[in-house]
Amino acid sequence: MCGIVGYNGSSQAAPILLDGLEKLEYRGYDSSGLAVRSGSNDIEIVKAKGRLRILSEKTDEGRALSGTCGIGHTRWATHGEPSENNAHPHISDDRNVTGVHNGIIENYQELKEKLLRHDYKFYSDTDTEVAIKLIDYYMKKYHGGPVDSIARAMIRIRGSYALVVMFKDYPDEIYCARKDSPLIIGVKEGESFAASDVPAILKHTRRVYYIGNQQIAKLTKGEVKFFDLDREEVEIEPKEVTWDAEAAEKNGFEHFMIKEIHEQPKAARDTIGSIIHEGKISLQETGLTDDIIAGITQVIIVACGSAYHVGMAGQYIFEDLARIPVRVELASEFRYRNPLLNENDLVIVISQSGETADSLAALRLAKEKGIRTLGIINVVGSSIAREADHVFYTLAGPEIAVATTKAYSAQLIAVYALAIQFAHVRNTIEEERYSELIAEMETLPAKMERILEDKERIQWFAAKYSNAKDMFFIGRGIDYAISMEGSLKMKEISYVHSEAYAAGELKHGTISLVENGTLVVGVCTQNRLFEKTRSNMVEVKSRGAYLMGLTSYGNYSIEDTADFTVYIPKTDQNFATSLAIIPLQLLGYYLSVARGLNVDKPRNLAKSVTVE
Ligand code: G6P
Repeated sequence: MCGIVGYNGSSQAAPILLDGLEKLEYRGYDSSGLAVRSGSNDIEIVKAKGRLRILSEKTDEGRALSGTCGIGHTRWATHGEPSENNAHPHISDDRNVTGVHNGIIENYQELKEKLLRHDYKFYSDTDTEVAIKLIDYYMKKYHGGPVDSIARAMIRIRGSYALVVMFKDYPDEIYCARKDSPLIIGVKEGESFAASDVPAILKHTRRVYYIGNQQIAKLTKGEVKFFDLDREEVEIEPKEVTWDAEAAEKNGFEHFMIKEIHEQPKAARDTIGSIIHEGKISLQETGLTDDIIAGITQVIIVACGSAYHVGMAGQYIFEDLARIPVRVELASEFRYRNPLLNENDLVIVISQSGETADSLAALRLAKEKGIRTLGIINVVGSSIAREADHVFYTLAGPEIAVATTKAYSAQLIAVYALAIQFAHVRNTIEEERYSELIAEMETLPAKMERILEDKERIQWFAAKYSNAKDMFFIGRGIDYAISMEGSLKMKEISYVHSEAYAAGELKHGTISLVENGTLVVGVCTQNRLFEKTRSNMVEVKSRGAYLMGLTSYGNYSIEDTADFTVYIPKTDQNFATSLAIIPLQLLGYYLSVARGLNVDKPRNLAKSVTVE
């Protein structure tokens, strides 16, 4: 949530900041702002309510602001409505400190009262203005430099933050501070950058520093120094980002989401390739040895949003193949409910960004209780990746659209690989079945490609039903997990009220909502449950529902019931989610396009939910 960019170099800062913010617009987009300066000149600030485009127009694409050092921000409102007044950057009363912030400062009221007692005035409703003024307060009180004042403020602030700050008396320097919110630093000759995420700076440099938690960075032109809370300098080794800069561009697709839907075969193929060697799964990179796996007695999967739905599918697969108890929990619930955990449990946190606040808190809770943790993470060097005992990196590449698609698919692969390997180590499957499952998993990318070739049918269907008001997704077992993700896609980007129901549960309430023309998607990929779900489809049809069936080639009898059917290639039933989700993602996408909505940046949502 909220995107931050900082630049300190010899080129004009504003166009670079705007370009970086555009790459981060998926993080927040209700208002934005820039602060730019040149040498010892005063800091110029421009802000705009609404999309980044408005800020860009207001500053003549950055040309109206002169200076080679600056910071920028795109906001997802937490404290205070979206408005120009609340937009960042914020500045202290005498223009001494200017800064942008991502995160939530929990004790901002208390800090504000303290500052009010010292005659500070406040012009916005934000917690950020409080943080900026607190830094200014400590600078004046102790006459220390920027690192000292920031460190003092950090000690008083409770909550999460990535702060990027400029000081009137320290021209050509930018300071950053981080606790539990993402922030990276990039450096190349004569220039340095700060950003919430790698895509913002990828076209300038691949040399990236992951600033540690509760650390401070000082950026001069082409150089960065890091400090801890005791103001002691600390060494951080830079990392080379291997992502292709093109991966963060649309490459001719109309939206990032449809591009990323098409990248799913590659995301799956790359992730599979990273763990299969000579026909066997190797989890060596994660550090999960066979001995460790053999000692695990229960698996708890914790995640948010779509990653939670991966966990839901994972539960069925793990329990079926590896015969180990699995619990799936929403991170926001898990973290506050004093969960029962045993010393031989494994807590798996699934997260694309590795920065989701609730997932990070859940990870920390498990660690505090001494439980082994594994992160299934897409963003290298993210907080969860750094803090988990073991990391399974999904190789989906940068995902920009707010609604996840390819990272979700790569997470599924990670879960399959873990379930198969657990089953192998625990001897719950024969050697032959082990090889069969691996071979079948390797066919998934090509099968995904086949589904994508047939996308026009879904496009046609979506256009026909673009006025849908309510939609229900029903299925049993893994098909229920698929339904949950299909329904979420529909809500997220098409704003259609939709619900996912375990088909057998329909009669306990939801069926009363079905009336003439209600759209119901019946997911039937599990042979054992096919007839059961089909009879639930008949029940809703007899109450007027319009039915879309989603099943595997061969199950043609579904056409006796469904009004419109989509077929997916046959696969092992444990892997059905990887294929069945693609038509549902396409349905959500095309419906959103048909309704003229902003697919990549749906209202009120942010890609990376770094506040709880
Ligand atoms: C947001 C995104 C979802 C994502 C969820 C969890 O809600 O819009 O697409 O599934 O966060 O994010 P994570 O980065 O932890 O996977």
